[in-house]
Amino acid sequence: MDSLLLETAKYALGRISSGTEGRHDLLYAIRDLDFLEEPIFGETLERNTQRFDRMKYPKIDANTERQLGYFWIPSEISLEADRNNFQSGKISPSQKELITKVIRKLIFFDSLQGRAPFLLYGQITSLPEAENNFLSWSFFEGVIHSRSYTEIARKVYPDPDELFEGSHEIPVLVKHEKSVTKRYNEFYDYVILYNLMETFGVKKPPEFMKEFRKKLLLSLFNVNVLEGIRFYPGFASVWAIQETTGTVPGISETLKFICRDENVHLDLVVKYLKILRDSKEEGFSEIYEETIPELDRMYKEAAEEEFEWTEYLFEGGVDIVGYNEDIAKEYVAYVCNRRLAVLGRPPAFPDVKSNPIPWIGKYVMSSGGDKKENVSSAETLPQEKSAVSDYVIGVAGGSVDEAFEEDVYE
Ligand SMILES: [Fe+2]
Ligand SMILES: [Fe+2]
Repeated sequence: MDSLLLETAKYALGRISSGTEGRHDLLYAIRDLDFLEEPIFGETLERNTQRFDRMKYPKIDANTERQLGYFWIPSEISLEADRNNFQSGKISPSQKELITKVIRKLIFFDSLQGRAPFLLYGQITSLPEAENNFLSWSFFEGVIHSRSYTEIARKVYPDPDELFEGSHEIPVLVKHEKSVTKRYNEFYDYVILYNLMETFGVKKPPEFMKEFRKKLLLSLFNVNVLEGIRFYPGFASVWAIQETTGTVPGISETLKFICRDENVHLDLVVKYLKILRDSKEEGFSEIYEETIPELDRMYKEAAEEEFEWTEYLFEGGVDIVGYNEDIAKEYVAYVCNRRLAVLGRPPAFPDVKSNPIPWIGKYVMSSGGDKKENVSSAETLPQEKSAVSDYVIGVAGGSVDEAFEEDVYE
């Protein structure tokens, strides 16, 4: 156990006695609050009316608007062709195995993301626009993405257990799960203690708050890596199968919608990171500077882990015309460099300068997002276009587009 955490817990519990009143107003404080004066993540929590007409950070709310505009329902994507192709053997056993490996890992990612954003950041913010943003983010991960994998498991696999059982016995997956959850879990311990001190009105020691802020930043870097790098070798490999054989249109489209959402989440994390880096009054600027070496290390190590994952994906050989393990790895390196560039950091892989998968823009949809990788959603919605895409019609313009004004893809 982290000794600072333990010492702070003992200190906090020592301050709580039978006469302690506690706050009793953490969910709604009945008093006038000017949220324009509140920090995103402050020393204390002040929450009451949710209002979105007057906000400290309208660009955070613009991201929420974009998330909502991209609402979709997994069951509306047809998986019939995929099912037939799985059953008739049109998909080779090695391609099927690759798809299974990819979805297993995505199941892990979104199970984690379905709860982490709101439990971590939603519990410690005072700003209505940030609270709403985290709530919406968790909703998309847990209620839409996670359910989409169950949809695939039910409709394409003869036995859904094939996707859900046994993941914790795959050494490389367990290794990556530990690596991804570590920063989240470490920060979550601090969130719990922060809330305990809030509940009982215990003043938080400065050294605790310093470490709290550091762990918060590290967890945000961690999630940026997850949203921005770790999904991509799997996405690209499944799309490569679709691109060359046309046998998995439904799974491929599901992943396109997930990827589009991940791009919006990528944008939101970058927004928070930039606010915390640049707005001195938020109290993070100094710690941000201190954690930069760790930021660089985390991105590179994550990409290297994804190289390892890619080797596992291609173990035993997978036959995909014009696509292989080396291309997938180079794409991961390319994506990693792009994510670092957005944060003003030098490339982790300076030799990789261009996108090795020329056709990927058809699949990576963000509509106004990644200008190098994408074309607009109107152009990219596929021949197998489904009812799902209709949700975005009418919201892809106007203020929603401003969500991507400067951040992720500048
Ligand atoms: Fe997700
Ligand atoms: Fe996400």
